[in-house]
Amino acid sequence: MPELQPLRPDHADRLLTFETDNRAFFARTVEDRGDDYFTTFPGHHQAVLDEQAQGRLRFHVLVADDGEILGRFNLYDLENGTAEVGFRLAEKATGKGVATAALRELCDRAKGYGLRSLRAVADVENRGSRRVLRRAGFVRTGETSFWRGLDDEFLIGGELRVRRLGFGAMHLSPDDGDVVRRAVDLGVTLIDTAYLYGWGANEELLARTLWPYRKELLVTTKVGVARPGRLDGRPEVLRAQVEAALKRLRMERLDLLQLHRVDPEVPLADQVGTLADLKEQGKIGHIGLSEVTVEQLAEARGIAEVASVQNRYNLLDREHEAVLDACEAAGIAFLPWRPVLPAVGGLAAEFGATPAQLGLAWLLARSPVILPIPGTSKIAHLEENVAAGAIRLTQAQRARLA
Ligand SMILES: NC(=O)c1ccc[n+]([C@@H]2O[C@H](COP(=O)([O-])OP(=O)(O)OC[C@H]3O[C@@H](n4cnc5c(N)ncnc54)[C@H](OP(=O)(O)O)[C@@H]3O)[C@@H](O)[C@H]2O)c1
Repeated sequence: MPELQPLRPDHADRLLTFETDNRAFFARTVEDRGDDYFTTFPGHHQAVLDEQAQGRLRFHVLVADDGEILGRFNLYDLENGTAEVGFRLAEKATGKGVATAALRELCDRAKGYGLRSLRAVADVENRGSRRVLRRAGFVRTGETSFWRGLDDEFLIGGELRVRRLGFGAMHLSPDDGDVVRRAVDLGVTLIDTAYLYGWGANEELLARTLWPYRKELLVTTKVGVARPGRLDGRPEVLRAQVEAALKRLRMERLDLLQLHRVDPEVPLADQVGTLADLKEQGKIGHIGLSEVTVEQLAEARGIAEVASVQNRYNLLDREHEAVLDACEAAGIAFLPWRPVLPAVGGLAAEFGATPAQLGLAWLLARSPVILPIPGTSKIAHLEENVAAGAIRLTQAQRARLA
């Protein structure tokens, strides 16, 4: 397996060969320092090492088993907790997931350098770079700009900044306000609810407890199920449910509104089209889907931008692996429901975690686009779940769990 190594003096000759051989294949992701910066290698090598020593640049090379350099991955201008990412890859190493793995590794290293987020620039025609950035958890924030939070942040729809470990409000009864208040106090910024949960009572509880909302808090709800519990995706029903949710949640706009289920009786285009109209009218900010197939996701994305997908997924239930992969490739947030695992007791003890924590830590490590929304009505469980955000699984542990 190729290994990402911080630049060392002994890399100079091989790096010069790499830069010369792969001049044409330059996956530019930032306003790079220009080819001249590298053509003068190894003369310039010391300057790069000096910058690295001063902490202004972190230069890494991707080294194959036989010692050949396959790529370079750089972090530039490490300021205010943010750095720019640039990389160049040997043509022979493209299309094999090598760049994605290296970029993910670079993100892990970046945390170690004390960085909180990364930026990148990739032109529209630079499809390879854009794909690699997305697969490594970067989201698009402009025509050519990308962003990735390190540790625990994600930008839903390239805009709504949340901490990745969220909270599902489904299990709360109307007098459980203290649980959700504690969740927010613990730093949770993503709370999931739905009209279905108590036919609006769950949304009312959130508004009663949390309004006026902290500006960093995202409360997201779902429509598309009607009383007494049947799917109803007719446009007039979706519109009425959105209006009612706005009132109950005391919001002028639902920043993220999810379609709870695709109603098979109504064309998908009508359901997603209605949400797109509501977005146009400013009633909703971003559109999410729930329990969709890869095909439905693709069809919906042909109609409107999809910012999130909420499907059932956990360590022991991987039915929607392909949907997760599609979300990861597109930089779409994936909110797995049923993330808490009661059934991995022995294994969890081995990892020094509780079963719930192991399941959540595995999800967070599984993909940077995963935003788990564990639900509980007990403060002790809530605290345990939030603490899972701090658990770091090693590569070997992840592999073993997978
Ligand atoms: N889109 C959809 O179709 C859909 C479907 C279902 C749910 N959801 C959403 O996803 C969220 C999570 O899904 P979920 O509620 O089905 O599954 P979950 O969060 O995996 O499991 C919740 C259950 O696990 C228990 N639990 C939570 N933390 C625990 C811990 N640390 N130790 C032991 N038990 C713990 C809870 O009981 P206690 O109250 O006793 O802690 C609750 O019964 C929901 O709240 C809802 O917002 C969406």
